[in-house]
Amino acid sequence: MSMKRIVTVASLAVLLIGVAQCTAGPNVPALKDVFKDHFLIGGAPNRSVVTGRDPNAAAIAEKHFNTITPENDLKWQRIHPLPDRYNWEPADSFVAFGEKNEMFLVGHTLVWHSQTPRWVFQDEAGDPLTRDALLARMKDHITTVVGRYKGRIKGWDVVNEALNENGTLRDSPWLRIIGEGSEDKRYDFIEHAFRWAHEADPDAELYYNDYNLETSRAKCDGAMAIVKHLQSKGIRIDGVGIQLHGGLTYPSVEGLEYAITSLAATGVKVMITELDIRTQARGYRGADVGRVNRAGTDDPTAATAETQKKLAEKYAEIFSVLLKHEKDVTRVTFWGIYDGRSWIGGSPLLFDRDYQPKEAFFAVVKAAGQR
Ligand code: G3I
Repeated sequence: MSMKRIVTVASLAVLLIGVAQCTAGPNVPALKDVFKDHFLIGGAPNRSVVTGRDPNAAAIAEKHFNTITPENDLKWQRIHPLPDRYNWEPADSFVAFGEKNEMFLVGHTLVWHSQTPRWVFQDEAGDPLTRDALLARMKDHITTVVGRYKGRIKGWDVVNEALNENGTLRDSPWLRIIGEGSEDKRYDFIEHAFRWAHEADPDAELYYNDYNLETSRAKCDGAMAIVKHLQSKGIRIDGVGIQLHGGLTYPSVEGLEYAITSLAATGVKVMITELDIRTQARGYRGADVGRVNRAGTDDPTAATAETQKKLAEKYAEIFSVLLKHEKDVTRVTFWGIYDGRSWIGGSPLLFDRDYQPKEAFFAVVKAAGQR
């Protein structure tokens, strides 16, 4: 072989190794290293990730995240589908995966108006449960679920999405039955949920979690009112989760800063708990899965360079705000692992449908380097 040919083959080999490293990973920094001096960084695996059926997604989680939240498997409907039946296996797999990888585990969620079976609110005749019977049922559920993972799941979304956009409490069976339409009792279901979670695992952190806190000041003020109410009663609350289901044009820097600083001013930790950015230009802004349909989540522009650039810019902007407020922000969790399995469709996360890091991934890494 001529010298020239040897040089050409050698250069090609170097080039190919470079490409392989770039896509396979060694040249892609781990997000948990990038953000180690700032906050925890995580994702939300579903069952196929933690049971090894989706090894590429598991590899992303293992490499990049030091905290995980199960996307669905701890919701009442999944874990406690019938009065006398608990379905532990999926949540056990989640906990085992997290422990194997030494991750901070977050439980999602104990009390929510959605994904809670109808029987929870009814007696055997199908009539609405009494206040006392519903409280007893809530206590049993919280004590059983939190108790099973005591010392292992380190933080719980105790109450999820209890607020309307205007900051008042959402009309749900929890509020209707336990609140009994009375002004003094309106926070009762929230108080009890936090008390019982604390009793079941006194070392676990306890959070209130909601969406649009960064886009609606009234709703954010409603979350502050919940925190202050619990604090006034001496009930443990450690943090508020700003879900942050955003879009290419929202939230604004001001809205996000208002939410972080005003919630932190109540003395609790602030965490971004369900981060994604929908790439669809139009449609519903919020996190109610009942209002997201297949047609609405279709996004033919998702893969275009223009959309990916906008996505990267929005992520960079959000991370520059989070880094600016890093003394108050303790955790940032993405809602999913990669685009292929996201609840919202389109291209909302940092890894694409082929599990590769996107422009948005590198924008986020760059934002950390600029601090
Ligand atoms: O697993 C079943 C599958 O067996 C069945 O064939 C299929 C038929 O519809 O449903 C599958 O379950 C779906 C599940 O996601 C897994 O894909 C449920 O129908 C669907 O309702 C469920 O949606 C989840 C939604 O919460 C409701 O629980 C989304 O994945 C999940 O991302 C979303 O997460 C919520 C947070 O918990 C709270 N904040 C808002 C956020 C987004 O809506």
